Amino acid sequence: MQEKIIILDFGSQTTQLIARRLREMDTFCEILPYNKFPVGDKDVIGVILAGSPYSVYDPEAFKVDLSQFIGKMPVLGICYGAQFISHTLGGRVEPADSREYGRANLTTIDTTCPLFKGFEANSQVWMSHGDTITALPDGFRCVASTDKVKFAAYAAEDKKVFGVQFHPEVFHSLQGTQLLKNFVVDICGSHQTWSPANFVDTTVQELKEQIGNDRVILGLSGGVDSSVAAVLLNRAIGRQLTCIFVDHGMLRKDEFKNVMRDYECLGLNVIGVDASDKFFKDLEGVTEPEKKRKIIGRDFVEVFDAEAKKITDAKWLAQGTIYPDRIESLNITGKVIKSHHNVGGLPEEMHLSLCEPLKWLFKDEVRRVGRQLGMPEHLIGRHPFPGPGLAVRILGAITREKVSVLQEADNIFIQGLRDWGLYDQVWQAGAILLSEVRSVGVMGDERTYENPVALRAVTSTDAMTADWAHLPYDFLAKVSNDIINKVRGVNRVCYDISSKPPSTIEWE
Ligand code: XMP
Repeated sequence: MQEKIIILDFGSQTTQLIARRLREMDTFCEILPYNKFPVGDKDVIGVILAGSPYSVYDPEAFKVDLSQFIGKMPVLGICYGAQFISHTLGGRVEPADSREYGRANLTTIDTTCPLFKGFEANSQVWMSHGDTITALPDGFRCVASTDKVKFAAYAAEDKKVFGVQFHPEVFHSLQGTQLLKNFVVDICGSHQTWSPANFVDTTVQELKEQIGNDRVILGLSGGVDSSVAAVLLNRAIGRQLTCIFVDHGMLRKDEFKNVMRDYECLGLNVIGVDASDKFFKDLEGVTEPEKKRKIIGRDFVEVFDAEAKKITDAKWLAQGTIYPDRIESLNITGKVIKSHHNVGGLPEEMHLSLCEPLKWLFKDEVRRVGRQLGMPEHLIGRHPFPGPGLAVRILGAITREKVSVLQEADNIFIQGLRDWGLYDQVWQAGAILLSEVRSVGVMGDERTYENPVALRAVTSTDAMTADWAHLPYDFLAKVSNDIINKVRGVNRVCYDISSKPPSTIEWE
């Protein structure tokens, strides 16, 4: 039995954060769309109804049948979740006089309520809602208030139903983790057994049973996820696993060589394929970002497919898919900003079954599992790098020459981050070549007319949102100097100070 908490998604941006907090408490949880509660699943020990951009009065607001779980297991409503429960069970929800947004303090707290065990007076919370609860259903009582929000939290302890109008999952709710822990551990009774060691043991066992004596193919990208998936599979089935690492020619400087060596040291059975000629040829003259991405995605599949077909008795295709890649999140706008392409996606006629051993893990958990498997820190702590590589960091058409200019600049930046002890403080970093822009400079007594390079470094926890990293000026000055002096063709360096949103992390 894998006990778990179900988090019902009503479209809020912070739903994933709730799941991350629970996992940090060594408790397994799943995010499911609001209407997909797994009725009858005996492993479910509690439910959280998360937030939503809608008001309970919006005609398109998401509704759920509460009788599926109320009275059967503990329930916690957060923000919209709390309002929905109150509204549905006979309380009253009304538009607030002014939108309640930002920091607030709980001026009264009933610490006899198990949800608020250990809470300090005036505990700071984070509010973000347009409606507010103005009357509670029968049998519910108020257990916390702020000076503006009377029913900041409620409880119906006999039914084990709780609601909070603030967001315990966000960092600014200072005792939010305590509240979630009170719910998950004390009220739902989680045994907190979800850990990397436990995950490795059970997954290795499951993979052995699932795969038996079959052969498995896995596409490596050099990134953390596919590498950890490979090492995990290697532990379970050893030489039955064949890994394929495609070099499209737009990786970082020396990346292909270095990563191949790392993989070999880890005992993996890897085929390295240099397909750069094909990629450069197909990308010739292409400047439009989405077109570049589509060509690279298609070429990847073709190259990978051709290699995979050589392993004629393979039965499985393994991928380093992780949980955030699969969460069936309610994308309310439905708009595609960028199409992200990864290795894999073999044509269906190959009849390979899919094996995704990391499909339940968040990124930080993948790293913990990698450490548990004894992988070297430089492989585990590696920054994310986009599948299309430097192709989406060269603005304009791609040539081998431009790639090598960018590789040099990027290498100075990344090596500098490592030397200055800054590498692990940023989520990801890289250089961008503005190959269609030229500006005037002066070197020695000569006029130059060359391209600028932009440097991008961001802090983030999941790449959904990001802030530009406030790197020290001295560091930026040194890197700028080194790039302009050492990289031919570059005479200007800029630092990107845009956050996401409204910008994105990659430039294309
Ligand atoms: P954006 O640019 O959308 O990037 O803010 C968010 C994160 O995704 C990475 N990224 C990709 N990863 N294939 C990948 O595997 C892709 O096509 C791709 N495009 C962007 C990006 O580096 C950042 O970490």
